[in-house]
Amino acid sequence: MRVGDTWYRTIWVGDDGWSAQIIDQTELPNRFVMARLETLEQVAEAIRQMRVRGAPLIGVAAGFGIALALRRDPSDAGLQRAVALLAATRPTAVNLRWALDRFAQRLAPVPSAERAAEAQRLAVTMADEDVAACQSIAAAGETLLREAARTAGNGRPVNVLTHCNAGWLATVDWGTALAPIYRAHDAGVPLHVWVDETRPRNQGLLTAWELAQHGVPHTVVVDNAGGHLMRLGRVDLCLVGTDRVAINGDVANKIGTYLKALAAADNRIPFYVAAPSSSIDWSLETGESIPIEERRAEELGLPSEVAVANPAFDVTPARLVTGLVTERGVTSAGREGLLTLFPERRP
Ligand code: MRU
Repeated sequence: MRVGDTWYRTIWVGDDGWSAQIIDQTELPNRFVMARLETLEQVAEAIRQMRVRGAPLIGVAAGFGIALALRRDPSDAGLQRAVALLAATRPTAVNLRWALDRFAQRLAPVPSAERAAEAQRLAVTMADEDVAACQSIAAAGETLLREAARTAGNGRPVNVLTHCNAGWLATVDWGTALAPIYRAHDAGVPLHVWVDETRPRNQGLLTAWELAQHGVPHTVVVDNAGGHLMRLGRVDLCLVGTDRVAINGDVANKIGTYLKALAAADNRIPFYVAAPSSSIDWSLETGESIPIEERRAEELGLPSEVAVANPAFDVTPARLVTGLVTERGVTSAGREGLLTLFPERRP
């Protein structure tokens, strides 16, 4: 990610060789500040409070948390305790469980004296893999944007609507839904992005900040504006991220995504979901059983006597999803589409 003249990732090993450095996303877009995480508990807190957020990034951050935990207690019990603590931080993004399962499996046979170093190696590898997956998603999604530009014709910018933040900040670098946008923009495809504000945590402001750093034209709109813009013909394509994809192609993403997909379907606007394989839950047949995180009422900023609910995600049924943009290409949202790209998952 480009910030001024410097390229950053969202997480990396500190100069001391063992702490985890992060960009504290609760300070953005007002302040670009970094934080140093030195313990398992600090990593768990950073995920819970959304200092690091976005499905792929919380998976990788959890890996760094395991490495830090094992410096203090490399026993089997220490590993189990760390996995349990991190797994309980945020329930919807499957990337977290995917990462923790991978650590648990890899580390179980490793002698305790070597576990912390091995865990850090794996965390760094997972960070690199995430960057590579995002770059492949960028290439796959760029073709969709080029196609939309051809349809728009006459050099008119393609109007893309996105929800939440599925960019640099939600991954280790590049993003999922925003990666094709950066790549197409860099290749000269004219683009403009409608950015949903994404109440209550306003991740749309993170998206706007990123797009501004990269020079991509964009406009922030309130969450309820999308349907209006679509009806007026001012949206060519929707592109969002996901926290969990079920085998039938149902996708969980930030609350409000479902409404955008409904509006897109009514207006015959393609609705694409960028989905790295780390977000596919091969154990879930449908999206019905995806756990939806309920966050604190205070996030809404309303008077304390007001009764509120704060579900953080919703599920968009596969029938409303035009396609999934994965690191192996674009496919239909459903079992056959997924298995065509990931044949190793065929039963
Ligand atoms: O609550 P958040 O900010 O972690 O939610 C993030 C999203 O919903 C993203 O769209 C999703 O994680 C995909 S990020 C590549």
